[in-house]
Formats: sequence, C-alpha cells, structure tokens
Amino acid sequence: RRPAGAPDRSLARPVTKVGIVGAGLMASQLAMLFVRRLEVPVVLADLDQERVDKGVAYVHDEIGKLEAKGRLSRDRANRYRGLVTGVVEKADAFADADFVIEAVFEEMSVKKSVFADVEKVVSPECVLATNTSSLSITEMAADLEHPERVVGFHFFNPVAVMPLVEIVRGGATDDATLATAFATGKALKKTTILVTDSPSFIVNRLLGRFMGEVGRIVDEGTPVPVVDGAFAGVAPMPPFVLLSLVGPAIALHNSETLHRAFPDRFHVSPALERVVAARKPGYYGPDGALDPE
Ligand code: CAA
Repeated sequence: RRPAGAPDRSLARPVTKVGIVGAGLMASQLAMLFVRRLEVPVVLADLDQERVDKGVAYVHDEIGKLEAKGRLSRDRANRYRGLVTGVVEKADAFADADFVIEAVFEEMSVKKSVFADVEKVVSPECVLATNTSSLSITEMAADLEHPERVVGFHFFNPVAVMPLVEIVRGGATDDATLATAFATGKALKKTTILVTDSPSFIVNRLLGRFMGEVGRIVDEGTPVPVVDGAFAGVAPMPPFVLLSLVGPAIALHNSETLHRAFPDRFHVSPALERVVAARKPGYYGPDGALDPE
C-alpha cells in the first residue's frame, strides 16, 4: 500500500547513482545502507581527504562485518566495496548522480551552502535530500534555482537498524521528487511516513519533550547514572546512552530549535549545555564508565 500522502509511484524517477555530502557518523552509515540496498555507485564527499578516507573505511569495515557473519558472499562484498568512493571535489563525481543526500553539520547556513554548491554540478532533476533532524526544508530550498527537487529524508541512528525514515515535503517540493523519495525509502527497506515541515518533525519533537524532562531531572540534582538506571529494562537504550549515541551537540541543537519554536513547552538543559561547551562526546567514557562533568 502507498504510504499516506505519497504521490503516485509512477512519478518516481530511477536512482542509479547516489552522492552523499558529509562523511561523518550519519553520512557513512547512509553510504553503507545505500550501497547494500540499492547496489548503485555511492560517492561520499567531505572537506578533506582524511574525513573522506575515514568514511570510506567505515563502509569497508561494515561490509567486512557482514561478510564475516556470512550475510554477504565474497563476490557481493567485493562488488559493494567497488561501488563506494570518496572525493573532496564533488564536481565530476556528482555530475551524473540522480539522488544526493546531505548529512553535514546541523546548521541552516551550512546546509544551504552545500545545496547551492551541489546544484551547480547536478542535473535539474537530481533529488536533493537532506537528513536534517530539525530544520525547515522550505527555508533550506528557498534560494535554489530548483527548490522543487528538495525533500527532507530523515534517518535515525543506528541507520542500519532503525526502521523509520521521515519524508518531509517542503513548500516547493514537487510530486516527482516526493515519489522518488518514497520509492527510494522502500528500496532501502525502510518504513516511510510523510511528515509536515515543522520544527524537528514528529520523532525528534516527541523525543525532545521526553529528553527535556529527563534533563530537568538531572538539573534538579539527580545523577545521570541514576536516571539511566531507572530506564533499565524499560527502554531499548537509557536516555543518556542514547544522547551519547546521537551526540550532545545534535541533541542541544534540536532542543534549541524546539525551544525557539515553542518556548513554553521546550526546555534547554543547562547540564546539556555544559557537556557541549566542554566538547565532550557524551556522558560515558570509552570504558562505559560515567565521564564526570
Ligand atoms: N550499526 C550497525 N548495526 C548495528 C549498530 C550500528 N551502530 N548497532 C547495533 N546494530 C545491529 C547489531 O549488529 C545487531 O544486528 P544483528 O541482530 O543482525 O546481528 C542488532 O543491531 C542488535 O544489536 P545488539 O544486539 O548489539 O544490541 P541491542 O539489542 O541493544 O540493540 C539498538 C541495539 C537497536 C541500537 C537498540 O539499543 C535501540 O533500539 N536503541 C535506541 C536507538 C534509538 O532510539 N535511535 C534513535 C535516536 S534519535 C535520532 O537518531 C534522531 C536524530 O535525528 C538525532
């Protein structure tokens, strides 16, 4: 069955090559998923060779893990390795891409400049998808020559196992772009839903409300491990483990976006601000022990 609000699937355009802007945590997981499920060339692009190499190495590692578990034949694993490349200069590598997704820093100006840059090298029909978890799709597309091919395509971490993709229609998004997004989500074996272009869409808005309250409990004096301990056996991941997985900076950005949009309902936690200001990667060290503030 066609997901609610999805246009006729006959409007979907084929995806034969994928460009991914960014080679960080989400981007490299996306590269792995696109290679495995679409079996088309996937190009990762980032600002310098070191980041690009790291992203490609992540994909190779994940392919190796599936091969070791017997879930991929050697031939197929080698073919997948051959499908993933990394570049610093997008111009040539992205020219014949028909689906580009960005997963760069969660900042409107950065994402706008990425799309302006990509638009110069791709065809007018190439879909420009954004993995933003909170920002407006309409605003992100506003200055482009072809805003009708911009769509929100929001994944959850870890990408390989979380089943949902939120598809966001911006003010200018056309039916062919939306149909291509839904068809791509299906090919990636994800559950797709159409969500309104509003701050943090559905999942992160709900999660933001939950995490805001969790933050208040800590701000009122309960230690992080006690809060996490309270969730053992109740949720798949205790809240501060989840926050460390997502990244405190992303979580803070999400709660700031929500606070700006709905100041009476969303709280920005001072404890979270302190963790981000101290540039900590999370609440726990590599050994799993609490990393004290
Ligand atoms: N990459 C690839 N695969 C992974 C993975 C990763 N990072 N983490 C786990 N997996 C796979 C494992 O390989 C395993 O696969 P198989 O069963 O096929 O071997 C499977 O997931 C289960 O893993 P585990 O048994 O090790 O662990 P688990 O049972 O504790 O489940 C989990 C792990 C699925 C991640 C679970 O803890 C969970 O659901 N956590 C909640 C995650 C969540 O809520 N994410 C949303 C975050 S919000 C977000 O992302 C929004 C945003 O925009 C910021």
